[in-house]
Amino acid sequence: MTAPRKPQVAFTSKAAPFVIRAERAGDVATREALLDACFGENRHGRTCQRLRDGRTPAAGLALSAMRDGKLVGTVRLWHVSAGGRPALVLGPLAVDPACRELGIGAALMQHALAAARARGHDAVILLGDAPYYARFGFSTERTAELSLPGPFERDRLLAIEFTEGALDGAEGMIVPTGAAVPKRRSVRAPEAHAA
Ligand SMILES: CC(C)(COP(=O)(O)OP(=O)(O)OC[C@H]1O[C@@H](n2cnc3c(N)ncnc32)[C@H](O)[C@@H]1OP(=O)(O)O)[C@@H](O)C(=O)NCCC(=O)NCCS
Repeated sequence: MTAPRKPQVAFTSKAAPFVIRAERAGDVATREALLDACFGENRHGRTCQRLRDGRTPAAGLALSAMRDGKLVGTVRLWHVSAGGRPALVLGPLAVDPACRELGIGAALMQHALAAARARGHDAVILLGDAPYYARFGFSTERTAELSLPGPFERDRLLAIEFTEGALDGAEGMIVPTGAAVPKRRSVRAPEAHAA
């Protein structure tokens, strides 16, 4: 049974209400534009993209931040095997440059982590700035023996365990394990008939 959608509203000190809700199909174009603005149009070449290519995000773990009816933030999580241990990889996390420092990034992180935990996931990994992600409990403690399918800076490979020991013995490559994106049926235009 699908749980009823229950948007959650966070109010900030700057009286800028925003809503964190499940990502919807209609979010795609704005989300893509936001990611281009935050990471550049060559973002598809980034190492973590290799964990997302052709995969769908983990169920219930793609979230959008909405403010004044506009998408201003996004986060997704993805199924991976972390050197043989099941885990999620988080990313990309992005907030509209015009809406930063309002707590939207933190709200996306807190909702995403709470939802991942509630769905029974045991660990989350990401590649990002430790000074930002440390506040959510991420560190390099559990990632020393892990690697990614491409170049990366080791001090940016971070993880949090919800279940102690979830990443014990996690050694080797992080590889994607999520469901493949369903193939779109190609719609062919009806062929013209010769008169
Ligand atoms: C990182 C990001 C998501 C934060 O979004 P946000 O909505 O501004 O974040 P919040 O308002 O919740 O938090 C702001 C705080 O985070 C700090 N912060 C933001 N980016 C940071 C970074 N890279 N390193 C350390 N601290 C950072 C701010 O200084 C601020 O600190 P304060 O609470 O002490 O004032 C946003 O800056 C962004 O989209 N950046 C570009 C994309 C990116 O780098 N994404 C993360 C990698 S996947």
